[in-house]
Amino acid sequence: MCGIVGYVGDKECTPILIEGLRRLEYRGYDSAGVAVFDPSKEGMTISRVVRCRGKLANLENLLRDSKPTGRTGIGHTRWATHGRPSDENAHPHKSGLVSVVHNGIIENHQILRDGLKQKGRVFTSETDTEIIAHLVDEELKVDGKVTLREAVRRALKQVQGAYAIVVMADNMPDQIVAAKNASPLVLGLGDGENFIASDVPAILMHTRKVLFLEEGEIAEVRKTGIEVVDLDGKRVERAPKEITWSAVSAEKAGFKHFMLKEIHEQARAVTDTLRGRLSVEHNDAFLDGIELPDVATLKKITIIACGTSWHAALVGKFMIEQLARIPVEVDLASEYRYREPIITKGDLILAVSQSGETADTLAAIKEAKKQGAYTMCIANVVDSSIPRSCQASLYTHAGPEIGVASTKAFTTQLAALMLLAIHLGRRTKTLKDDRAKALIQEFLTIPHKMADIVGLAGQIQVIARRYGHARDFLFLGRGNNYPIALEGALKLKEISYIHAEGYASGEMKHGPIALIDEAMPVVVIAPKGPGYDKVMSNLQEVKARDGKIIAVCTRGDTDIGSLADECILIPETAPELQPLLTVVPLQLLSYYVADFKGTDVDQPRNLAKSVTVE
Ligand code: F6R
Repeated sequence: MCGIVGYVGDKECTPILIEGLRRLEYRGYDSAGVAVFDPSKEGMTISRVVRCRGKLANLENLLRDSKPTGRTGIGHTRWATHGRPSDENAHPHKSGLVSVVHNGIIENHQILRDGLKQKGRVFTSETDTEIIAHLVDEELKVDGKVTLREAVRRALKQVQGAYAIVVMADNMPDQIVAAKNASPLVLGLGDGENFIASDVPAILMHTRKVLFLEEGEIAEVRKTGIEVVDLDGKRVERAPKEITWSAVSAEKAGFKHFMLKEIHEQARAVTDTLRGRLSVEHNDAFLDGIELPDVATLKKITIIACGTSWHAALVGKFMIEQLARIPVEVDLASEYRYREPIITKGDLILAVSQSGETADTLAAIKEAKKQGAYTMCIANVVDSSIPRSCQASLYTHAGPEIGVASTKAFTTQLAALMLLAIHLGRRTKTLKDDRAKALIQEFLTIPHKMADIVGLAGQIQVIARRYGHARDFLFLGRGNNYPIALEGALKLKEISYIHAEGYASGEMKHGPIALIDEAMPVVVIAPKGPGYDKVMSNLQEVKARDGKIIAVCTRGDTDIGSLADECILIPETAPELQPLLTVVPLQLLSYYVADFKGTDVDQPRNLAKSVTVE
């Protein structure tokens, strides 16, 4: 994610930048920095960059003794994507005249970096952001008369990927330039001063008059006004908006809870997981250059994880076994190392963890590494303990997850596991060209379909109110939707404190059917696809015992309506990708049940976001 702020005006800007960054720390907190124009003795106005690893408090300590005193500046709080959290990788990045802060991921960073190196450019960080500083500086040097806005426009013509950037250039202290593609950026219009931020909370204490930048727009921001152009340099005119949210609700982007905000963010988060890693042209998935063990000798993969991440791992087993035909074992990290696992040298052990700090998963991966396994992780927090212990890390790029109940972290884990499955399947050659092409094309539509499902929130809220009084819930699913039944039950338990069980639908007759009566809501995951007919038979069994059926089913399914009391209709997708969609209505259902019951949704009792004890 990352948080960005910028200021041009007559006030001393460092305190304004720091206060803005504090309001954006929810977007990232592994390093922070500012660049502020400091008038120098020689009459040149140059930007002074102060940045460091760690939370904002570390930056404040650094600034305490020597604060830049200028009136134009930019700031950044980082959530690492390219390059671990470190002083060198902290933003702003400076090259020659140009200082830049960035939120996003540059997809063609390697090609651009190589090209710039050939021109003699020296890089001092591992980030993709530094490339932008070099590109803009090149444009300013090549054409001495070019404006900063035009230099940024020319530089961005070469860049592919997601970015929100704010740029300033030495000796042009009266302006900063902002540009956006896929990552958010908002301009705040003040009186004789103007602001830039990733999100409204950072500027709300200064102004409520804002202009949200749209894709491909570039803004030249001066204290006297703002001019916006598109990537072709054409003027854009748009009226500003008035923000009516309170500061507290602005942090949640107007949502009542972080969990709801994060459910809504999933389309963006999954897009970021896929960014630059899926290629229709090459029919392949790329894993940031990770060198996996040779598939010819790879006998088995073991995935270890806890809680929601364990449910993602269970879905991952389906994905990898179906597409790559490599056997996969899934283990609870808390059990794994106490059962004397059989690890053969060269086995691939994959940890899945949002926080990268879960003590059980960390201990299990260390044990596996000690015994000679090749260790890899899928994690969200860059350079956290688990990635640091593994030989390879694939990051989900979901951004910070604040709600204790995991939502966007889960769906981005599923997306990362699918990338891995496609990557392996292409190398074992079990995933043939045609199937790969169709699957990749469908995979790319998933974010759009997730956003579509989130649009069903109103209907799901009504269902939640209707059944929110129940004492118990049952969740049923088959195949790769069985782990989604487990996840649906876990979500409901942890935030609404209602007892819930997830079952493989075929197992119902072996026990849980005894629980069913008219007071028992049964949530059935029944999208069209393999196993659909069998799930329909299970539904008949529930109906015959007067159970109340809430079905998650495919749009256009005209059969299920006669059995189910409630149908949540979701878009069709490939069977392998269904879990990415079927889980979304279950997240919304548990959210609205909990909200209806008035529980502490974002911080449910007895739970912690990161479980660092065994
Ligand atoms: C449930 C939840 C937990 C975590 C589990 C593992 O909503 O968030 O079950 O999934 O504690 O945490 P990570 O993924 O950080 O290892």
